[in-house]
Amino acid sequence: MTRFTSSLDKDRLIFRSVVLTALAHFYHLWERGLIPKDSKDVIRWLIRALDEEEEILSGSYEDVHEALEEWLLRNAGKNAGWLAYGKSRNDQVATALRLTLRWKIIHLLWEVNRLRSSLLEAAEDNLEVNMPLFTHLQPAQPSTAAHYLLYIEEECFRHWRAIWYMLREVVDLSPLGSGPIAGSSLPLDRGRLADLLGFAGVEVNTLLATGSRSFLVLSLGPIASLMVSMGRVAEDLIVWSSPQFSLVEIPSDHVSTSSIMPQKRNPVTLEIIRAKSAKLIGSLTSLMAITKGLPSGYNLDLQETNEHILAVDEASESIRVMADLFKRIKFSDLRIKSTLAQDLAEKLVKERKVTYREAHSLIASALKDNGWDLEKAAESLGLELPSFSEVLKSRGRGGPNPDILRKEISSRKKLLQDDIEKLADYEGEKREAEENLLRLARESLME
Ligand code: ARG
Repeated sequence: MTRFTSSLDKDRLIFRSVVLTALAHFYHLWERGLIPKDSKDVIRWLIRALDEEEEILSGSYEDVHEALEEWLLRNAGKNAGWLAYGKSRNDQVATALRLTLRWKIIHLLWEVNRLRSSLLEAAEDNLEVNMPLFTHLQPAQPSTAAHYLLYIEEECFRHWRAIWYMLREVVDLSPLGSGPIAGSSLPLDRGRLADLLGFAGVEVNTLLATGSRSFLVLSLGPIASLMVSMGRVAEDLIVWSSPQFSLVEIPSDHVSTSSIMPQKRNPVTLEIIRAKSAKLIGSLTSLMAITKGLPSGYNLDLQETNEHILAVDEASESIRVMADLFKRIKFSDLRIKSTLAQDLAEKLVKERKVTYREAHSLIASALKDNGWDLEKAAESLGLELPSFSEVLKSRGRGGPNPDILRKEISSRKKLLQDDIEKLADYEGEKREAEENLLRLARESLME
């Protein structure tokens, strides 16, 4: 018979979570008196299993669940046969995926916070550094590097909050105790099982808990969106660092030279970030495509969704690299005169009492008559070009006015501090839960 290779190797991804899930289940059976008291030796082997990944996954089994059960049977004997009492691989894999995903998202959220911090620092250092903003990639209006940096920080903040919501309200719910699809006859306490694994709550409906992977789509959705935003930033910096633009200087440890052209400073880390954002879209698309049209309830197709939690690591790595880049990026002070045209037209309106449409066409024809030189065009109309600093100072909330942005930065630092504290508390709770489970398991051995 021709078969696919087993999922054992890919199951390394969730190995620890699978063992912890099995431990929580077995411990619960034991504490509830649902299995013989003398079966607790299996608990000892389950604790040991955490350190025996290589050995456990070395045989030829269909998946990690089978490999673990066989290893337990070999070592703990017949009592290991109680592990499958009231537990299916379907609720187990869903639980393990969520546990692993939880750590990966926590890690990602830390990286995003570090990126936010380096963006806020960079913004503070670049409040007065002039930089044009582009529409249609044509110079549009005067702005500052700080304004641009804060735009990225706000994107990060918004996505941070969306990912945080999905983590707590969607991912952090326990499927354990759901059996294969509709529970079992055992009086399992699903709330207790959730507590043992440090889940915030229970994914109540057993069909949803075992057969759905919408928690993957919902959590990867905002992560993919974050990466799409970061891919755009990567593209900006790639373009702006080319000598033709000379708007930014990428730190030298983020560029590579060419093996043949010595003048090259290729923005390689940004290029990888741009590609990773495509891979995140790929993972999200795969998840939705695999589950689209699938009958409700567990189907082995779902096994192919597991590996896509790795996409979270790809996002984390990209964000980490980006945070490092923004610590040392240099913006050149670039003032492009033509970007003052709108402000010149607005000045014309105020001084000559003409409508904006009239001012627009007066300046447009003066530009045409003066070889697109705005300074000469202004002169021909008897006007003086506004200065860049004057223009920046005229801007209101959300724009590049340095005085307003200075205040904005300090309120954004507070938001970041809030998110840092929330995440530290949350991570602490999860670590404690894992320690608690192991402590309870060890204590049961002493009874
Ligand atoms: N290896 C499977 C997965 O990762 C575990 C569940 C298999 N369930 C089953 N009924 N064959 O999704």
